[in-house]
Amino acid sequence: MKMKRIGVLTSGGDSPGMNAAIRSVTRYAVYKGIEVMGIYNGFEGLIKSDFARFTHRSVSNIISRGGTILKTARCKEFTTTEGRSKAKDSLEKHGIDGLVVIGGNGSYRGAHIFGNEFKIPCIGVPATIDNDIEETDATIGSDTAVNTALHAIDNIRDTATSLERIFIVEVMGRESGFIAKQVGLGGGAEDIIIPEMNYDLEMMCEDINKGHNRGKISWIIIVAEGAAKSRKIAKEITKKTGFNVRLVVLGHIQRGGSPTAFDRILATRLGAAAVSLLADGQADKAVGIKADKINVVDFKVAIQEKKEADIELYKLLRILT
Ligand code: F6P
Repeated sequence: MKMKRIGVLTSGGDSPGMNAAIRSVTRYAVYKGIEVMGIYNGFEGLIKSDFARFTHRSVSNIISRGGTILKTARCKEFTTTEGRSKAKDSLEKHGIDGLVVIGGNGSYRGAHIFGNEFKIPCIGVPATIDNDIEETDATIGSDTAVNTALHAIDNIRDTATSLERIFIVEVMGRESGFIAKQVGLGGGAEDIIIPEMNYDLEMMCEDINKGHNRGKISWIIIVAEGAAKSRKIAKEITKKTGFNVRLVVLGHIQRGGSPTAFDRILATRLGAAAVSLLADGQADKAVGIKADKINVVDFKVAIQEKKEADIELYKLLRILT
C-alpha cells in the first residue's frame, strides 16, 4: 500500500536538533509526494488528535532553533491499551498511514508496542541528549549538550584555578554517563562519577590529598545526575580533604540552545532516512548512524540497554589528569 499521509511527533525530553529532524521529515515527505501531519505534544497529542497539516513552509527557519516546534510530553495514558486504542482511532480518522517518532528510549518503546498492536508502521529517529540508544553512534542533541556543558566547565576551570578550589559539576544523565564522560575528557576533569561504574570516594580523596602535597591547587570532578547525590559528595570531600568545595548543577541549560552543525546534519540525514523507510513499506524500525553511514535496526534492538561505560576512555582520563 502506498503511503499517502504520515504523522510526525517529538516525545520525551526535548533535545537540540529535534526541529531540524521535523524539517527534514516534512520536506522529504513532500518531495516523495506524501502528506504530513504535525502531531503536537507527543503521544498525548496523538490520543487527542492534536494535529496540524504541515507543508514545506510549516518548517521554514527552524533548522537552527533548539527545543521542538511540535512540543513534547511524557504521556502516562499511552502506556495503557485504552490510551493507545484512542491514538489508533485518531490516526484512522485523519487518514494517517504511518508515524515518525522522534525521541529517546521511552518513546521508542511506546512506538514499538503501538505499531505492533495495531499494525501501524512506525519509524524511530533517535533524539536525546543522553546518547543512550543502541546501534547508533550518536543521538540528535547529544553533541550540542556536550558542547554546552563543556563551555560552562571551561568557565568553571578559570575560577577554580584562581581560587584554589575543588568544583563538583553535576551534568545531566539520570541513567547515562555519556555527557559526564565526554565533558570529563574534553574539559580535562580530574575524575568522573557515572551510573555505569562504581566509584571509590575514599580513593578519590586520597588522590586529592596526594596531589595537593605535590602542589596541585584545583580539581574538577564531574558527576552524572543519576550516579550519586552530588551535594553529599561535595560534603564528604570537604570533610576528608579540608578543601574548599563548590557544587555547580548545570541542569536544563544542557537541553536547550541552537544545535551544533553535527546535530543539525545528523537530524537532517536521519529524518529523511525515516521517511524513506516508511515510503518503502518498512515498519517497527529505528534509524541511526554508524561509522557515518545510516544504520537501520528493529525497534527491539534499539531499545536494549545501551553499551556499558567505556573503561578504556575512563582510564585515559585518569592517566591524563
Ligand atoms: O532528556 C534526558 C534527560 O535530560 C536526562 O539526562 C535527565 O535525567 C532527564 O532528561 C531529566 O528530564 P526532566 O527534568 O525533563 O524530567
